Amino acid sequence: MKKILFVCLGNICRSPLAEALFRKHIEEQKLSHKFSCDSCGTAGYHIGKQPDSRSVANAKQNGLLYTHIGRQLTKKDIQEFDYILAMDKYNYEDIQEMNKIEHQHIYKIRDFDLSNKGADVPDPYYGGAQGFQEVYTILDRATLHLLEELLK
Ligand code: 4NP
Repeated sequence: MKKILFVCLGNICRSPLAEALFRKHIEEQKLSHKFSCDSCGTAGYHIGKQPDSRSVANAKQNGLLYTHIGRQLTKKDIQEFDYILAMDKYNYEDIQEMNKIEHQHIYKIRDFDLSNKGADVPDPYYGGAQGFQEVYTILDRATLHLLEELLK
């Protein structure tokens, strides 16, 4: 069982969606027994909160239902998870700042994206509805390619 953690800033927009989409892919491919996944934020603003209602509404339009309770990244997470996926370069730097154990599998999620490899997942929080769909499309694709890589 490999443990996968998705990390963004607030843990209400991007990373809970990444977690839900990765879970969708493993369920569709009957691989749920091989992976467990979770998400968290580098910041503590939204601890205990549900995902952003705009993210949830957009996902629902795409046929995906999910829920999550916001939580903040801890040093214990870095010890416990096998793969840690940051949404953007700021999250990546913040995670590495907490990485005192030389964890070797911390990446940006779009390192696994075949389209615009290595780019950031844009933060949709201050934007409009279109930004949420863009994030959904990016994360649906990137989490699928991540899964393909993890199966190699
Ligand atoms: P997330 O988006 O990191 O994708 O969850 C954000 C959520 C909240 C804030 C920023 C980004 N905020 O500043 O409160």
